[in-house]
Amino acid sequence: MKKFFATLLAALTLCMLTACGTSAEEKSPAAQTSDKILVAYFSCTGNTKKAALEVAELLKADTFEIVPAQAYTSDDLNYQVENCRANVEQKDSAARPAIKNKIDNPAQYKAIIVAFPIWWGAEPRIIDTFVESLNLSGKVIVPVCTSGGSDIHSATSNLRALCKGADVRDGQRLNGMSKDGLKAWLDGLKL
Ligand SMILES: Cc1cc2nc3c(=O)[nH]c(=O)nc-3n(C[C@H](O)[C@H](O)[C@H](O)COP(=O)(O)O)c2cc1C
Repeated sequence: MKKFFATLLAALTLCMLTACGTSAEEKSPAAQTSDKILVAYFSCTGNTKKAALEVAELLKADTFEIVPAQAYTSDDLNYQVENCRANVEQKDSAARPAIKNKIDNPAQYKAIIVAFPIWWGAEPRIIDTFVESLNLSGKVIVPVCTSGGSDIHSATSNLRALCKGADVRDGQRLNGMSKDGLKAWLDGLKL
């Protein structure tokens, strides 16, 4: 009988140790996904989308298209017309065009590449809507753009002011970058 209880006790102890071992090895859902990167892009005529998808492919990142609640028509984007929608929004620093869609579980991403076209030397206001809608504390934010020639510096400094608690890296204009050049720049970010 004594031998039976000793064997039972040993078996129970072994079971408990095995169970403990398994749970210690399993990562929490947060830890499993904490190295994930998201490329979020806004693009009306396709240039930024193309560049953003190249970045996502190189980083093996998830992608998210920032879709405006009200789509921009070609009239809205005709910046030679003084009061076209895009111009009106850009002139109003408080403008926050609504976004139709939402990121699935933003907490899972440690870094977000935010890609946009330059409008009047800066980020479109919908990008401000996007960053203000998220808790970016502790995250790395990397602004990237396409443009007709303007640089990204004003957009980067605007985003530094809006992304509270985030590590906003120096932005990068993507036009004309070779795949190797893009890869080298992305590697240098050490995300
Ligand atoms: C309203 C508006 C304003 C723009 N302002 C600028 C500008 O200030 N500087 C510039 O280089 N390009 C400017 N552009 C050109 C876009 O930045 C460029 O075409 C960009 O690649 C478009 O990206 P998308 O195809 O992803 O929409 C402007 C375009 C629009 C529609």
